[in-house]
Amino acid sequence: MMMKLFFSTLARASVRTGLAVACALSFGVGSVAAQENIPLDRAPDNGENLASLQHGAQLFVNYCLNCHSANLMRYSRLQDLGIPQKQIEDNLLFTTDKVGNTMSIAMRPDDAKSWFGVPPPDLSVEARAKGRDWLYTYLRSFYRDDTRPTGWNNMVFENVSMPHVLWQLQGVRTAKFEDTVDEETGEKVRRFVGYQQVTPGKLSPVDYDSAVADLVAYLGWMSEPEQRTRKQLGVWVLLFLGVLSFFAWRLNAAYWKDIK
Ligand code: HEC
Repeated sequence: MMMKLFFSTLARASVRTGLAVACALSFGVGSVAAQENIPLDRAPDNGENLASLQHGAQLFVNYCLNCHSANLMRYSRLQDLGIPQKQIEDNLLFTTDKVGNTMSIAMRPDDAKSWFGVPPPDLSVEARAKGRDWLYTYLRSFYRDDTRPTGWNNMVFENVSMPHVLWQLQGVRTAKFEDTVDEETGEKVRRFVGYQQVTPGKLSPVDYDSAVADLVAYLGWMSEPEQRTRKQLGVWVLLFLGVLSFFAWRLNAAYWKDIK
């Protein structure tokens, strides 16, 4: 009985994992296909690095929280990243005065809509919706485009209504395109050939990439703050179930011994 329960739980868990993988795959494929086939860059995995996560939190609060909220996230939770409460209150608490409050913003959705055309979405679980690679590529793919109302465009999110808020760090870049004719279909296609740095940013390209990696690590952490605990706990749960199944198996054998 116990074994059966154990295995059916396992089976259910693996079906769920399978589904999650299938969803993740279809998400990935969907987002790549829609975006001129710009391959996504792999986001470095800084999710376990506290210094990265702290830096990411700082960037998020300074550069993103003016427009985007993170309504599922409380400032006090940043203590899990090793940032002391005093430091949160002194340096990171921009949108509220209570450390127990969530990262909400003062901008009203109606205003946001009229300013940007689209209200900036809440970013609490953005890393799970879009994936970290997408975020990492997106935040490094802005380029100057004077035909856009904000003056900016983005390689993986065409005609995005978000301005390049990190431009001071990255500097100004334009994108170079090449018009070619598709040999098979004979259609004219506009191919992206690369960026051109117009003015340098405060950070070198390498440092900019690493800052964005930290920001994305933070977005990933924020979308599931429990994940570090969950993974550690998971190992113990599996060990426990293993031991339990062993005893259940022996007990079962002992019960049936005299009946057969
Ligand atoms: C000036 C306001 C503003 C700031 C500051 C800002 N954004 Fe945005 N952001 C927007 C708007 C508006 C959109 C909606 C774009 C659209 O749909 O065309 C958006 C969209 C996004 C999206 C895509 C959401 C989706 O799923 O479609 C992501 C991711 C994002 N922002 C991340 C960030 C991050 C990270 C920062 C901080 C570095 C940031 N934003 C700062 C205005 C802002």
